[in-house]
Amino acid sequence: MTQFSCLESSIELGPLVESTLPKLLTKTFGSSKKVILVDSSTNEQCLPLLFTHLDGLENAEIIEIPAGEENKTMEICFSIWEALSEMEFGRNDLLICLGGGMICDLGGFMASIYKRGMNCVYIPTSLLAMVDASIGGKTGVDLGSFKNQLGTFAEPSHVFVDASFLQTLPEKERLNGLAEMLKHGLIADAEHFEKLGTLSLENITRELIVESLQIKTKIVESDPKEKNQRKLLNFGHTVGHAIEGLFLNSDQKIDHGLAVAHGILVEAKISVIKGLLSVKDFERIENTIKERFPLQCFSEEENNKFISLMLQDKKRLKGSRFTLLKGIGQAVFDVKVKDEVVFEALKALQ
Ligand SMILES: NC(=O)c1ccc[n+]([C@@H]2O[C@H](COP(=O)([O-])OP(=O)(O)OC[C@H]3O[C@@H](n4cnc5c(N)ncnc54)[C@H](O)[C@@H]3O)[C@@H](O)[C@H]2O)c1
Ligand SMILES: [Zn+2]
Repeated sequence: MTQFSCLESSIELGPLVESTLPKLLTKTFGSSKKVILVDSSTNEQCLPLLFTHLDGLENAEIIEIPAGEENKTMEICFSIWEALSEMEFGRNDLLICLGGGMICDLGGFMASIYKRGMNCVYIPTSLLAMVDASIGGKTGVDLGSFKNQLGTFAEPSHVFVDASFLQTLPEKERLNGLAEMLKHGLIADAEHFEKLGTLSLENITRELIVESLQIKTKIVESDPKEKNQRKLLNFGHTVGHAIEGLFLNSDQKIDHGLAVAHGILVEAKISVIKGLLSVKDFERIENTIKERFPLQCFSEEENNKFISLMLQDKKRLKGSRFTLLKGIGQAVFDVKVKDEVVFEALKALQ
């Protein structure tokens, strides 16, 4: 069992039965009401595993919401708040989020607002949620095409990462997690990036998950509210979020991780155009990303739309500011980039 903390959360990595979760459920929250938030897939694929392993959940309520990013909305939050209120849940009762980043983001947000903050723990079940979404305290829901427009900084008290949930995770979802892990390597640890580049997707080890988590933890702890250092984690995301947002409500929906993989490539290209990253390093990144991810080509019209969405992105301060790479394992934040440069990079990769 590996154990460390990130801000107010205690993070435990290892089999749930060996973690402090059983004690938490039977002792700390022994007499509290409990509700487990799942989506339609984690209800089917992950909840049975939880029940097999743990006591203390016999009377837990289950709230299931439809799977998919398009359901990370206020409307869904309202329906859950109403249900909790009807069941007379109080602030001292416990919400358990069992799912990917969507469930953790939405559940964490809901818990942080309900009765001014109810108890909440995360059991991330997707690779992306294990290495990224479940830590750092950012919660939120989307507003139309804009990702995470409504949200709070609020940490769950505990995060339990048990890699055995990954057994049922589809390959496409593993890729989404891999994108964030590669990002962690690119901004902070060249060796982590190298290891991930050569790994088979079935073999994502607990060690690699721990490495990725620790990169994120270190950055988040140095700057919890994203005034400086934490912006490094936005690498790949300014372009990535615009791509994801544009297709969010269309039938060509692009997953977060795949959008980030696109974003990594475009933002690495911007880094080259700005004279920060060598062509050699760019090519290493390009080869890794293209080998792993089924990237698609966007039309000029779509590129124009990305740019206008980026202009409205909350992360955009005065002028466009990007996190860019100086090398593999080294990044800088708040670099001003003109729209023409973004366009040039998008075009170069068409
Ligand atoms: N808060 C943060 O700091 C942060 C960081 C990164 C990403 N995010 C957010 O995370 C979300 C993406 O997370 P995600 O990729 O986990 O998406 P997701 O939660 O939508 O999960 C993807 C799919 O995998 C299914 N799934 C999850 N675990 C499974 C398992 N063990 N077996 C079978 N199916 C399983 C889900 O039901 C869903 O259908 C986005 O909303 C993104 O904005 C948040
Ligand atoms: Zn991300």
